[in-house]
Amino acid sequence: MPNAAATLALEDKSNREQNRMTTREQNDFLTQTGPGTPMGNLFRRYWIPALMSKELPEPDCPPVRVKLLCERLLAFRDTQGRVGLMDEFCAHRGVSLWFGRNEENGLRCPYHGWKYDVTGQCIDVPSEPEESGYCRRIKLTSYPCVELGDVIWTYMGPPELKPPLPGFEWALVPQAHRFVSKRTQECNYLQAMEGGIDSAHVSFLHRHDLRSDTLHVSRGAELTRETDVRFEVIETDGGMVIGVRRQAEPGHLYWRITQWIMPFHSMIPPYGDNALNGHAWVPTDDENCMSWCFTHHPTRPLTEHELHTMRNGGGIHVNLIPGTFRPVVNKDNDYMMDRAAQKANKTYCGVKGIAMQDAAVQESMGPIQDRSKENLTSTDNGVIMARVRLRKAALAAQQGKSPDGLDPKTHAVRSASIVLPESVSFHEGAADALKVREGAAPISV
Ligand code: FES
Ligand SMILES: [Fe+2]
Repeated sequence: MPNAAATLALEDKSNREQNRMTTREQNDFLTQTGPGTPMGNLFRRYWIPALMSKELPEPDCPPVRVKLLCERLLAFRDTQGRVGLMDEFCAHRGVSLWFGRNEENGLRCPYHGWKYDVTGQCIDVPSEPEESGYCRRIKLTSYPCVELGDVIWTYMGPPELKPPLPGFEWALVPQAHRFVSKRTQECNYLQAMEGGIDSAHVSFLHRHDLRSDTLHVSRGAELTRETDVRFEVIETDGGMVIGVRRQAEPGHLYWRITQWIMPFHSMIPPYGDNALNGHAWVPTDDENCMSWCFTHHPTRPLTEHELHTMRNGGGIHVNLIPGTFRPVVNKDNDYMMDRAAQKANKTYCGVKGIAMQDAAVQESMGPIQDRSKENLTSTDNGVIMARVRLRKAALAAQQGKSPDGLDPKTHAVRSASIVLPESVSFHEGAADALKVREGAAPISV
């Protein structure tokens, strides 16, 4: 629930000035997620989307390389259908187990035949006599996995601190109500995530797509073209809500309300009757992330038109190079920049597709943006607050405190877009709209 009283440190001018400045040291703190780093330790307290269930479609299928938080891992599904996620490299002499044989409830290294089960436990070392017990002393680092919402999630933190399973609505609706995709993004997770909580850019970067992308077209999309925006940020138990207002009819304001949930989830305000969209921005390493894209409708199956559009790179999804999660439009082809389309106002920035417009501008900042050089304004308040919350949570976790956003109740929220009289505050006027209400459609104009 939004807590008006906690409109936070942003209210305080000196804090505000302080929060606006990011030093190089703070930037390193926020952007490094490898083992042993404060932010890496924080992220390891949550369930993390690791790969899609369909990447491991059946028992004994080929294993898949997964890189998460700078760790090189391997996922496989064994003969019984169980999923394992473990160190990519054989404990014997370091061969990548991606070359392994997935058979008879384990993955066997092709070099000298050592075999591992889904927990990373070595279960056969052919060169050593069984009775020596040698293989029982060998175990690869491995992480528990669960399948929820067509996604395989993993938990990489201390076993005794494992939180309850995630409670995001998109993951809990019937499968026909949901579409999940993911794409690699060639920059640090933070600058990708900061795009997801900065809805001021929509009036510019995606301006013309609001009129052409059929999963966006709506009255709200027209109102979003207004560039005079004001931000109000309110802390919640699991993160924050960011209310961005634009003028609607006289005496009324159009509010686009984004949810951000610790540590890397965002929910985009909806457009008309279209489905809801959200993201998770998961660090691969410090210079790359996985942009997960979740589309769902709480009360109806997705239509054939919606599914067809998303499978073909519409909405927040993108076309991928077959066999990979790399977008067809990417840095190596200058994002297929189309100056004529830019001049003709078909796209605002010359890049086709909403998601790739975001990726192009965010990757252009460099693999890790140097935030000590930026100049922030009031429309960056959501970005500022997310940095404050992440930093505070990482420091608190270092002192043994539980970070926010572990409780699945804090995931049971929705984004909203709503027109309210000028006299009504958005957190009161949209209080119901921001909750998951079973059987109730999203509130959206
Ligand atoms: S390196 Fe894997 S069995 Fe020897
Ligand atoms: Fe965007």
